[in-house]
Amino acid sequence: MKLTLNGAEVDVEAHPMKRLLDVLREELQLTGTKEGCGEGECGACTVLIDGAPVCSCLIPFAQAEGTSVTTIEGLGENHPLQHAFMDEVGAQCGICTPGMILSALALGDKPSLAQIKEGLAGNLCRCTGYEAIYRAIAKANTGKQAGMNLASIGVKNRRATDKRKPARPSGARKKAD
Ligand code: FES
Ligand code: FES
Repeated sequence: MKLTLNGAEVDVEAHPMKRLLDVLREELQLTGTKEGCGEGECGACTVLIDGAPVCSCLIPFAQAEGTSVTTIEGLGENHPLQHAFMDEVGAQCGICTPGMILSALALGDKPSLAQIKEGLAGNLCRCTGYEAIYRAIAKANTGKQAGMNLASIGVKNRRATDKRKPARPSGARKKAD
């Protein structure tokens, strides 16, 4: 099955009904994508498909065919969001962090605090109390820390819709406040 993965065109042999999360972790060794609940509730498994955050635990691999998938590995090791999370102690155990960063990335440049809270409403964190995460995302979007938009990591085909929302059972998104 052909897709673009972190900016590179790849052809992956995997069962079409296997969860995208498992294909990433088991077939492609991209273990930066984490599993929390496995039920679409926590957002730990968030990746971007065509620039929109999705729960990879709910997505059959077949749905990724022909798309552009971005995992945390696609950001490299020197992304402003990663630095900001470290600076603001927005990561503790780290299970939620890749998903948080990818959801933040999908917000684009200079989101307001309200937009950050809304954009991360489907990402749960049991450690930080969220304030450090919000600070980190706001910090990454200010000053001279340029280049955090999706184009900077090779995602050219962002769609306006958030594919994660329909994939979640209604009421499953918990407000992070
Ligand atoms: Fe996918 Fe929790 S592991 S939403
Ligand atoms: Fe532990 Fe968020 S840092 S769940």
